[in-house]
Amino acid sequence: MAKSSKKMKVQIRPATPADVEACGRIIFESFNEVSKQHNFPCDFPSVKISTQLAGLLINDSLVFSIVAEVDGSVVGCNFLHERHPIRSVGPISIAPDFQSRGIGRRLMIKIMDRAQGSLGIRLIQETQNIVSIALYTSLGFDIKDSLFLIKGKPKTPFQKNGIDVRPLALEDVKICTKICLEVCGFERSQEVENAVKYSSPFAAFHGNRLIAYSSSMTMWMTNHCVAKTEEDMKTLIVGTGNLSSEPLSFLLPVRHVNIFRWCMTEGFRIYKPFTLMAMGKYIEPNGIYFPSANF
Ligand SMILES: CC(C)(COP(=O)(O)OP(=O)(O)OC[C@H]1O[C@@H](n2cnc3c(N)ncnc32)[C@H](O)[C@@H]1OP(=O)(O)O)[C@@H](O)C(=O)NCCC(=O)NCCS
Repeated sequence: MAKSSKKMKVQIRPATPADVEACGRIIFESFNEVSKQHNFPCDFPSVKISTQLAGLLINDSLVFSIVAEVDGSVVGCNFLHERHPIRSVGPISIAPDFQSRGIGRRLMIKIMDRAQGSLGIRLIQETQNIVSIALYTSLGFDIKDSLFLIKGKPKTPFQKNGIDVRPLALEDVKICTKICLEVCGFERSQEVENAVKYSSPFAAFHGNRLIAYSSSMTMWMTNHCVAKTEEDMKTLIVGTGNLSSEPLSFLLPVRHVNIFRWCMTEGFRIYKPFTLMAMGKYIEPNGIYFPSANF
């Protein structure tokens, strides 16, 4: 039952492992409701998956996790990822009965206070969600990119032409850091290192020179990709498609119009639109960059 905002006393506090189940349920229910409204697939297919995510985030010392409580019950949560100089936010979610009462705003302000002094804050927003885009914009976030979630496999078979696509190794992390810095102005080395240990990252090499990499091109939420040129990125996509048994999935900024058009001719499908928003320092990519669900 919805509560009147006048009677509500909202407390914002750090999340603890005891909050994992409540946060998992709220993430699932709130995102599922938005997806149903717009007839888009939900990013969290079950409570089990969203609870696993809540557990990972709340137990991660490099994620600042907070909850909102009303009358002793958790009704919302939000997360600030502090692993990189660029901070990223999300997922923020408020239980459906408690939405539109200013709780999301309070959870965002707390996270923004915590991120004071960082290089910048970023988030990826589901474009169709007019409430969240209104909230983030009014808080000072700017729209920086339009993205599409793209899934599928390229039709074109991989042809070497002097370029190798192969799994990333730990010794490649340094060069990934360098290319990420050159293209994006920040690095994601810890994430690339983790991807080598726990996921399936790939890179394209021209001779010994790394020209493009992806951290996990079959899992868009944790994947980011960097390349110097459009051709390098296309080669990486074709090579990775050739080596992966799973379909590829990634967030493609529509600014890369030639890659976008090429993806359509290669048989990829568009799933839904997203928006990259940022506050603080923002450097325009000097090359090709596909963000993860964080930034
Ligand atoms: C998005 C979400 C976190 C926002 O939390 P909330 O507690 O409902 O939001 P708040 O009440 O704090 O703030 C919403 C703001 O949007 C404004 N808003 C809502 N609809 C609007 C519209 N159509 N046009 C302009 N502004 C609008 C409200 O007026 C309010 O601003 P105000 O504080 O100046 O009045 C919450 O709705 C939610 O959990 N949604 C489902 C999960 C989700 O989508 N998460 C974000 C993914 S990007």
